Formats: sequence, C-alpha cells, structure tokens
Amino acid sequence: MNSEILEKYIQAGKIAKEAREEAAKSAKPGVSLLELGEQIEKMIRDKGADMAFPINLSLNDLAAHYTPKHEDETVLKDTDVLKIDIGVHVDGYVADTAVTIQFGGNERLVEASREALNAAIDMIRPGAKIQAISEKIEEVITSHGFKPVENLTGHGLDQYIVHAPPSIPNIKFSSSKTLEENQVIAIEPFASTGAGHVNDTPDILIFSLEKEKPVRSPEAKKILNFIQRYNGLPFAERWLLSQDAIDYGLPSSLFKIRLALRELTQNNILATYPPLRDAKGGLVSQAEHTVIVQDDPIVTTR
Ligand code: CO
Repeated sequence: MNSEILEKYIQAGKIAKEAREEAAKSAKPGVSLLELGEQIEKMIRDKGADMAFPINLSLNDLAAHYTPKHEDETVLKDTDVLKIDIGVHVDGYVADTAVTIQFGGNERLVEASREALNAAIDMIRPGAKIQAISEKIEEVITSHGFKPVENLTGHGLDQYIVHAPPSIPNIKFSSSKTLEENQVIAIEPFASTGAGHVNDTPDILIFSLEKEKPVRSPEAKKILNFIQRYNGLPFAERWLLSQDAIDYGLPSSLFKIRLALRELTQNNILATYPPLRDAKGGLVSQAEHTVIVQDDPIVTTR
C-alpha cells in the first residue's frame, strides 16, 4: 500500500473514531434519533470527509441498517440498546466502526461484542487463519451467555467499496483462507439475547446504485443523476430530501421520492439494505473496528 493511500485510511479512521465518540456521548434518553444522526453526519462533513454509508442507529432487536427517516420521531428511551455504526471515507478509502450504547441493565451484552472484537483484533496478522478468528469471536460471545449473530459478518474494505472480500463470520466455519498483508478489514461481532439470526424488515431506508439502466419517470432520472456523487456507496432516503437535493431539483415530497425509489429498486437499478431484526426479537449489541493487516496491525478507528 503506498503511503498516500495509507494516509487516507488513517485520516478516515481518525474522523470515524471522533464521530463515534461524539455520537456515544450525545446518545442519551430523550434525544431524537434523527437529530443525533444529522449532527454526526454534519460533523463528519465539516471535518472534510464524507459518509461511506448513512449513519446506522439501530435500536434493540434491530441489529443493523436502520438510519433515521426524513420524518423520524424516535426518541431514545432509558431501556434502549443502541448500535451506532459509522462509515467515513476520504477519497473512497473507508473506515467502518461501531459501538453499542445502553443506559443500564445490558452492560454484559455490550461487553460481549466488545471483548469479542478485542480478542479478534489480537489475532490479526498476515497469514492468520480467518476461521480461527471467527471461532474466537463465537467463543467469547458464547462464554458471556449470548449468541453471536450467525448471518452478519466482518468484511474487507476497498476504495469506494464497503463490502469487499474476505468475509469474516462471527461463528465457527470451515475455510483455509488467511489474512493478507495490507488487506483492510472491518471486524464486527454482534451478540444477541435472542436467536442470533437476523431477518430483513420491510421499511428500507438505505440504498446504493447497483446497475445503471434507462428509467421512465423524470423523478427517478433525477435521483439517478443526483446519486452519482456517492460513487456507488450506500445513501439514505433522507439524503434525497436534504437542502442539497432540493437545490439540485429533486422533489421535496417524501411521497414522490419513495415512489421513484420504488421504481428504481423494482428495476434492480438500486440495491437495498433492509433493517435487520433478530428472528426472536432478542436485544443485539455490536462492536466494530477497521484494521490494516500488518505484522503490527493498524487499528484505524481505535
Ligand atoms: Co462493517
């Protein structure tokens, strides 16, 4: 990896860490999820970076992929378990990091994913077997009395790509794959009090450009032009109703935006990221860092 690219990964990691810490500090009972999300996304842009994906603020049995709606009225409660998952990029070089906040009673659940993450990071080096890391994650979470989420995995990162190979499962699996020098990976253990398996839920709030094709409606065409700025990275429905989007000429009606998004997804032009819910409604915690694989690994988000 050349030093210019390394510098960008490190810069993205530093900003992601600051944003995660600020979000964790601001997340208090009574705080609006929408305001929290917008505040952190603004902070990242003000620091000269950009979002690699919309801030994920997933509550309780939602494990991931919930970002506030344009008209979101959710307010944090003192019983909530909140996963804050932040993606930042500098010239496409991504940092991906997450923390879980709870306000009492779920300390051990939060500890389980955090300790699994730390144990996994301790094993990272060129040549390390991925299956050994996955087994360790499962072992740490299970020893806390919880279930690892079996169908969510850590992943590689690349320029303008949030989910590159390799996949790093949170449960034991069989593979001869090893980590390679200078691979950039995100490790993200999830611990659950329920099924340890997540399913899609219907209200999709995060999308990305999958494949460009001609579209019928002028609104869909306009969205397709507007989202070029994300270079294929995921974006929020909410972002299409921002002042920037309105200035660009997108409709300011949520109804029209949703209709156009439906057209784009039905034609497989957009990929969707539905919020993921634990199959038994259990509470879920998550911890995540981005690491550059080296003999002395660089945890860019720590
Ligand atoms: Co991730």
